[in-house]
Amino acid sequence: ALDRIPHPSYRVPVVGDVLGANVRTPLQDSMRVAARLGPIFRRKAFAKEFVFVWGADLAADIADESRFAKHVGLGVANLRPVVGDGLFTAYNHEANWQLAHDILAPGFSRDAMAGYHPLMLDVARRLTARWDERERAGAAVDVPGDMTKLALETISRAGFGHDFGSFERERPHPFVTSMVGILAFAQRRNVIPSLIAPMLLRGAARRNAADLEYLNHTVDEIVTARRDGTAAGGRGDLLDRMLDVAHPDTGERLSAENIRRQVITFLVAGHETTSGALSFALHYLSRHPEVLARAREEIDRVWGDKEEPAYEDVAKLRYVRRVLDEALRLWPTAPAFAREARGTTELGGAHPMLPGAWALVLTIMLHRDPVAWGPDPEAFDPDRFEPAAVRSRPAHVYKPFGTGARACIGRQFALHEATLVLGLLLRRYDLHPDPGYRLRISERLTLMPDGLTLKLGRRTPQA
Ligand code: HEM
Repeated sequence: ALDRIPHPSYRVPVVGDVLGANVRTPLQDSMRVAARLGPIFRRKAFAKEFVFVWGADLAADIADESRFAKHVGLGVANLRPVVGDGLFTAYNHEANWQLAHDILAPGFSRDAMAGYHPLMLDVARRLTARWDERERAGAAVDVPGDMTKLALETISRAGFGHDFGSFERERPHPFVTSMVGILAFAQRRNVIPSLIAPMLLRGAARRNAADLEYLNHTVDEIVTARRDGTAAGGRGDLLDRMLDVAHPDTGERLSAENIRRQVITFLVAGHETTSGALSFALHYLSRHPEVLARAREEIDRVWGDKEEPAYEDVAKLRYVRRVLDEALRLWPTAPAFAREARGTTELGGAHPMLPGAWALVLTIMLHRDPVAWGPDPEAFDPDRFEPAAVRSRPAHVYKPFGTGARACIGRQFALHEATLVLGLLLRRYDLHPDPGYRLRISERLTLMPDGLTLKLGRRTPQA
């Protein structure tokens, strides 16, 4: 079945196509191979063969939920020792997926979102307080670092009423360090064959175990404090739902172990990706003054001189939202997802698949397929997301949040948070890029603009 799928022409015995591949940038390597081999291709790493798909037609076909479903593989599967049957890593057949999905989905409704809005504003105020200081000192800001602080505080406060105090620290909170360590370890497990992994990664595995213990310990403290009533709660946030809500039909509840897994899942899934999206958007805004001017004109017009935007004012920033959409097109911070065949089928009417056979959708290349995005897909242009332009494109060519039943549950949360923060930042600051900076992408399951700094100017008169 694989014969019709191209692969790199020079294959090294035993190791396969991984020679010359960089363990730190597996995705960017795959992008180069994709550009060479076309909309479907395969790569071999040691004994395993992986199929990659990114052509618009094939991606649309594999989005068909009646024939395909999420596959828990590679990076996602490597997180199973950490978060087991939590929402993101659960196998489709695991009962806890449906249970947790049904209990937690109302935590992402419009009403729930309106409830998180004041907390999001509060965290954003800490960011601007810090950026004001940097601006007064004439110092540059570390964009990915500060966006990571913001996104972590936002999900931890809105979801669990927990304050990590990220903005009060110079260095990242140890929770973040442990989490990043775990993500990097999971990624390395992707490219190192399981047979020799125990030998190669012995030291790293020890550190990984310590990191995991620290995450579990931190989360257990948050949960215990809520159960004891020693921490704020009762606002109906995600943790309250996990602890108190029974399934509407079955009356079943989440177990203590599953709650721990969900809390870690949300802290991880809810912050790296959002922080990357904000960072890429700020990079492009700082490099495209005409886009920044249009976004700012909209913010001034829609928000006027309101001190702080209300919940409803955020979704009105249509152009700012398109800036985000476009940043996530070029750099979908979760750059791939895996799909498996439910039964015997043919992908794109040409590639036979047996039940359980799977392929990795390279979102980041799908988002650059000229078939869908025209002759200059690398160009940053938020107008691609004007309603008429969206209608003129085929379906299923934009998937930063995945697809189907297992698509991102936090999409509205992330978009509200990111639009709000961009609105506040553009209203307040001028962004001056470092002229010597060239976009570099770091990979640790999610993507981040590496080393991005900006200098700020205060736009509004100092209060
Ligand atoms: C799933 C992307 C923000 C929680 C996913 C998936 C993608 C994604 C691509 C599907 C993965 C797959 O098919 O294997 C993103 C991006 C975000 C973002 C790009 C920000 C820009 C968030 C936030 C939260 C969140 C803020 C939580 C508040 C989750 C969860 C899942 C998920 C729990 C698993 C859903 C399930 O399988 O039922 N996300 N995400 N994400 N995301 Fe997000």
